[in-house]
Amino acid sequence: MSAQRQYSSKVAGQYLGTPNANGRYNVTLIKGDGIGEEISNAVVKIYEAAKVPVDWEPVDVTPSLINGVTTIPKPAVDSINKNKIALKGPLATPIGKGHQSMNLTLRRTFGLFANVRPCKSVVGYKTPYDNVDTVLIRENTEGEYSGIEHIIVPGVVQSIKLITKKASERVIRYAFEHAKSTGRHEVIVVHKASIMKLSDGLFVQCAKEIAKDYPEIKVSFELIDNTSLKLASDPTTYSKVVMVMPNLYGDILSDLSSGLIGGLGLTPSGNMGEKVCIFEAVHGSAPDIAGKGLANPTALLLSSCMMLRHMSLNDYADRIETAVLKTIASGPEHRTGDLRGTASTSSFTDSIISNL
Ligand code: NAI
Repeated sequence: MSAQRQYSSKVAGQYLGTPNANGRYNVTLIKGDGIGEEISNAVVKIYEAAKVPVDWEPVDVTPSLINGVTTIPKPAVDSINKNKIALKGPLATPIGKGHQSMNLTLRRTFGLFANVRPCKSVVGYKTPYDNVDTVLIRENTEGEYSGIEHIIVPGVVQSIKLITKKASERVIRYAFEHAKSTGRHEVIVVHKASIMKLSDGLFVQCAKEIAKDYPEIKVSFELIDNTSLKLASDPTTYSKVVMVMPNLYGDILSDLSSGLIGGLGLTPSGNMGEKVCIFEAVHGSAPDIAGKGLANPTALLLSSCMMLRHMSLNDYADRIETAVLKTIASGPEHRTGDLRGTASTSSFTDSIISNL
């Protein structure tokens, strides 16, 4: 099936974990909130059936506020630091409790500077476009998500977009390395430096400098509004390239890309750091369908396939990916509701297992 082996994340940065005494690999598992439990259980069940040599280490990441700072429980931090790798379900951001987003806290705590978001058409699931094949790399630690907001006077607030040379260079270099190692010939830097002259201007300037180290890779620059238009009207424009961009643009454009192939239930991602990587679906905790057995576990499962390739367990990743894509292609009775199907999370999971 042509859509296989697409979710590779094995570029710059190495998996630094080692097998345990049983010759298997310990992986930290954050099941997450909302639909997290249902989709994580589906992944665990499929891994058991596929005999993947992974021992899950489930951890609780319910945050606490220490001196006004959102803090991850120590056992979870220790587990991730020890295993160097984690699979994570979605985490809801508590509203009005004084917490910062737990997702942001995790990314900052472990220095997960690049968020790799591939998006490829699923053969057998018809959408307006049959041949979407995009790779978007989102800066993951700063930009519009720095969490620096003030009330200047009542009715006037200020939110600071932080762009640093260090974080920009790191993610842009990662994008060039990704392009090089996956055979993509061009890096497109998406920005809005026409308006945010200093912040996005610095991001663009960093890209111009880094590009000099990669003469074999073309570099181009596009305004975010223009990229949105082109992505929605002809996504094939981006088939052979890697897009790299500041945080907020990556968040929005990756959901747009998901929509092109069938929705959030299908798109995986990897949060890449120097020492630790955490793989997760692009979607959130979907509170509207949580606990109803309706969630599609595909995005988390494909994120886990990115993870397996990062760990050089490619054969297992190929086998699982083939089974999930075959299941989706085998008709609406085998697909979940988000893909216009009638299957429950558990019957979809069983179908994947029977296709392994
Ligand atoms: P969402 O992604 O949870 O849901 C958007 C829509 O997509 C909903 O209609 C939902 O039912 C559907 N959907 C999402 N994943 C699905 C799946 N696997 N199968 C079937 N349908 C699916 O976005 P929303 O509602 O904006 O956020 C809910 C919560 O999730 C918020 O607290 C937000 O902060 C958090 N969130 C967490 C993320 C993470 O942990 N990485 C990412 C995005 C949001």
